[in-house]
Formats: sequence, structure tokens, C-alpha cells
Amino acid sequence: MSIVEMEFTNFHYLRVLFFLALSSHSFVIRGDNKNITSAANRVRNRDKGSVLLVDVRSFGARANEHRDHTKAFEAAWDMACKSSSSSVDLIIPRGEFYVGPIRFSGPCTNVSHLTVRVKGHLKASTDLSKYRSGGGWIEFGWINGLTLTGGGTFDGQGALAWPFNNCTTDSHCKLLPTVRTLDKPFEIINLSYKKIKFSMLIFQSLKFVGMNRTIIRRISSVDSKFFHIALVQCRDFKGTRLNITAPSDSPNTDGIHIERSSNVYFSRSHIATGDDCVSIGQGNSQITITSIKCGPGHGISVGSLGRYPNEKDVKGLVVRDCKMSGTTNGIRIKTWADSPGLSAATNMTFQNIIMNNVTNPIIIDQSYCPFSACTSNVPSRVKLSEIYFKNIRGTSSTRVAVQLHCSEGMPCKKVYLENVHLYLASSGGGSGKQQSSNGGSEAVSSSCRYVRAKYIGTQSPPPCD
Ligand SMILES: *[C@@H]1O[C@H](CO)[C@@H](O)[C@H](O)[C@H]1NC(C)=O
Ligand SMILES: *[C@@H]1O[C@H](CO)[C@@H](O)[C@H](O)[C@H]1NC(C)=O
Ligand SMILES: *[C@@H]1O[C@H](CO)[C@@H](O)[C@H](O)[C@H]1NC(C)=O
Ligand SMILES: *[C@@H]1O[C@H](CO)[C@@H](O)[C@H](O)[C@H]1NC(C)=O
Ligand SMILES: *[C@@H]1O[C@H](CO)[C@@H](O)[C@H](O)[C@H]1NC(C)=O
Ligand SMILES: *[C@@H]1O[C@H](CO)[C@@H](O)[C@H](O)[C@H]1NC(C)=O
Ligand SMILES: *[C@@H]1O[C@H](CO)[C@@H](O)[C@H](O)[C@H]1NC(C)=O
Repeated sequence: MSIVEMEFTNFHYLRVLFFLALSSHSFVIRGDNKNITSAANRVRNRDKGSVLLVDVRSFGARANEHRDHTKAFEAAWDMACKSSSSSVDLIIPRGEFYVGPIRFSGPCTNVSHLTVRVKGHLKASTDLSKYRSGGGWIEFGWINGLTLTGGGTFDGQGALAWPFNNCTTDSHCKLLPTVRTLDKPFEIINLSYKKIKFSMLIFQSLKFVGMNRTIIRRISSVDSKFFHIALVQCRDFKGTRLNITAPSDSPNTDGIHIERSSNVYFSRSHIATGDDCVSIGQGNSQITITSIKCGPGHGISVGSLGRYPNEKDVKGLVVRDCKMSGTTNGIRIKTWADSPGLSAATNMTFQNIIMNNVTNPIIIDQSYCPFSACTSNVPSRVKLSEIYFKNIRGTSSTRVAVQLHCSEGMPCKKVYLENVHLYLASSGGGSGKQQSSNGGSEAVSSSCRYVRAKYIGTQSPPPCD
């Protein structure tokens, strides 16, 4: 979804002197590392043979010392990744560790199982000048067979960055999707729209780029400066038992953003944030999102699609067994008006979704355009088809519980609604049963444009004529 798809009118480079501050405080004792075998332990593992253990403490990191540990982490990564062992565990023990932006890059040629075991609480540097816009705080790239686990927490310390992100969602400007962001060492992107100045800081907490066979499990992310977790060009990715939190008014803190990836599976997670719980961008295929509790947040979104030329199609999405509570959208598909290229999103199934007081439980919006630039009203050229909404139930906080607004130029094809039971949430007060007492089903309605949906089973709201 999210955000900031907007004309960048000017960029500013804030160059801040930070090397001094950093280097004077980096007591990374490289000496520890002279004898490689003393910095690591080889343990026997019944199943896998031997696993090389690499602990950040062997490289000078100390828990609960309020200083930057980036160098120690990098040194530990270097050893883990360049190891000739096929199984390596990189250990970040309990306690608090401050780290700056850090890249864990592959290829790790001879390592086929690399586990990063985070037990501690990592805190992101609050020195914004250290970050590259569009980059991650913790970035994993070009690695095969990474597992990230351990029960630890990634604390993005976003509160100090949020005031800069005043390019607010759904009003005047929307952010670039992750791929488009520029990979340059600037800190603040200045934007302007109708002479109003906005700024953006695009620093994602956990970014995965070009990864194959990744597992992330039992990890918490709190208060990201921008997206919590972003995947770009990943294959075979599995995320489970994640706990993602940020305040409901924190800007652009999407829980999970996926782009140009395939065979991605997220399950059994809890996402409470200020933007989309999950956003599925262009070029994705075979994506499964299951057993996610979402809210507060902006729901689960496909898109926005069709902003740029040469976007790739989205196909094969399944979202099932999810619960949305107090979110602004439940399931949303959003494409830009006047899209520069042709693309498609097809074969998407949304099944067994519970809505609890959701503003727009089911919404397709193909005329997304926050700019005056699209007064021409050229319809979206993103073709939507084979969309299944099955067994969607619960409450809507607004009367239009189902909104299917497709493109005049490319009407949606093969949209199915099967057993939709949405009722108006009782206003205010009561928490338990929000179903309105007067039956509710007349109280909610459907709104359709350029689509002839097929209805199966029972329907509330009643179908469009
Ligand atoms: C490295 O450490 C190991 C284990 O402590 C020791 O056996 C070995 O001799 C050391 N090698 C060197 C080059 O110091
Ligand atoms: C990886 O394994 C190959 C073949 O066993 C070996 O030649 C090479 O030196 C190893 N590379 C590293 C970084 O250990
Ligand atoms: C991931 O797999 C793809 C397809 O097999 C391959 O092209 C790519 O190089 C792999 N990435 C890495 C980091 O090995
Ligand atoms: C957004 O934040 C920037 C930097 O803090 C500030 O210069 C600008 O005036 C703000 N714009 C709005 C619309 O609040
Ligand atoms: C998720 O994280 C938040 C914030 O750290 C915490 O309050 C909450 O208990 C966690 N929930 C679960 C299910 O772990
Ligand atoms: C639709 O997507 C599902 C789930 O990704 C996949 O299993 C199925 O084969 C796809 N169907 C078609 C016709 O491509
Ligand atoms: C439902 O959400 C609306 C705002 O979207 C809020 O004003 C209302 O109090 C909520 N109702 C319940 C029962 O939580």
C-alpha cells in the first residue's frame, strides 16, 4: 500500500558528521578474532553433525552497554558467513544491544544453514544521519537458507523519525513502494505537493533482499521508523509467530511489505501498527497469509498497483483465517488511476476472515489517485480477475460494507462473493457482540462499479443489482 507514491520534486542531502562520534567509541577488540577457532565453538548436534557457534560477544559486543555494537556484529557476521561449515549459528545473547544500520550480506558460499539466533533486544541507532533512505536498519541480502529466530526484539526506535514522515497516508501524498526508493545516503526526502512541504524518512526495520529459503520465526518488531519487515525479490520465505507493534498513529509503519517475491508464507502472527498490517505489492506470486491477527492498522492490502511502468503481475494470493479488529480496511485491493503500463492481479482468494468493527471490510479501489495530476480521470490499466471472497463475517463500522469499484477501462472479471455476513457494528460502547440489534442486514450496503460479481450462498450486505 502504503504510501508515498508521489512526485519527488527535490531532494536534500543532509550530510552530518558522524564518523567521529562512531569511531571514538568503537572498542571492537579485533584481537579476540585473531585466532578464529577461539572466537567460535563447534558443537555437535545430533541431527546435523557439527554446528559452528559464533557469538557476538567474542567480537567485543557486551549486553547492556550503551554504545554502538555495529562493528562487533559485522565482524561476527563476516566470520559466520565466510565459514566453511555448512551449519552456523550466529548468537546475539540476552540483553540490550544498540546497533546502527547494518547489512548482513551473502553469498555465504559454503554455509547452507545459517541461523541468526537473537535472544536479546536490539535497539536501532537514533542517529538518523547514519541511515540510507530506502535501506533497512537490519538488512539481509543474497543469502540462501537463513533462519532468523530466538525470541528477541528488534526495536526500531521510530518515535523520533515519525514526525519527519508527515507525508500522511491517504491524504496528500503516498510513499514510493520499496523498490523505487533511491539507494543513496541521504536522510530526509523532501516532497512538495500543492506547495505544501512534506518529508519522508524511508528506513525499514528488517529488510530482506534477494533471499532464497528464509525462515523467520519467533521475532518481535516494535516501533519501526518505516515498514517493520520488507521483502524484495525473495523466494521461498516463511515467517511465523511474529509480533509486530507500533502505535496506531505512527506513519508508514506497515507490518509486512512484500514485493517481487514468490512462494512466501506468513502465519500465526500478531500485527498492530499504524499502516497496513500486510501489503502485497507488484510482481508477487504464490503468497499465503494465514492466521494473522491485525489491528489496529489499515488491514491487508494488495497494492497499490499500477503506479509505474513495467510493473509485474500479482498472481496466486491466498489470505485465510485472519481476524481484523478496528482496522480502517479489512481486505483492500488498490490500483492507481491512469497507470502508465498494463499489468494484472489475478487468482486471489480471501477466505475465513473475521471483521471486527472494520471501516471498509471489503474494498476494491481502482481509481486511487491522490494528486491533482490525475484530474484527467484516465481509468486504471491494472486488470483484476479471479477474486474470491469466501466466508467473510463480522462487523463494519460504516454502512458500505462491500465496495467494489473497478476500472472503467478494465472492468474486474470473475469476482465471487460466497457467504458474506457483515453487519453494522453497534456504535460506541459494547465490545462483545457488535451486531446491531435491528437485524443489521438492511443497514449495510454494497457499492459496485464496472464489475458484475457472482454471488454464492448468503449475502449481507445484499448484492449490487
Ligand atoms: C587457536 O586457538 C586454539 C584453541 O584455543 C589453539 O588450539 C590453537 O593453537 C590456536 N592457534 C593459534 C594459531 O594461535
Ligand atoms: C568453500 O568450499 C570450497 C570447496 O570445499 C573451498 O575450496 C573453499 O575454500 C571454501 N570457501 C570458504 C570461504 O571456506
Ligand atoms: C536464488 O535462487 C535463484 C533461482 O534459483 C537464483 O537465480 C539466485 O541466484 C539465488 N540467490 C542466491 C543468493 O543464491
Ligand atoms: C513536514 O516536516 C518537515 C521536516 O520536519 C517540515 O519542514 C514541514 O514543514 C512539515 N510539513 C508539514 C505539512 O507538516
Ligand atoms: C507483542 O509485543 C508487544 C509489545 O512489545 C507486547 O506488549 C505483547 O505482549 C506481545 N504479544 C505477544 C503475543 O507476544
Ligand atoms: C491460484 O493460486 C493458488 C495459490 O497460490 C494456486 O495453488 C493455484 O494453482 C492457482 N490457480 C491457477 C489457475 O493458477
Ligand atoms: C468502532 O470503530 C469506530 C471508529 O472506526 C469507533 O468510533 C467505535 O467506537 C468502534 N466501536 C466499537 C464497538 O469498538
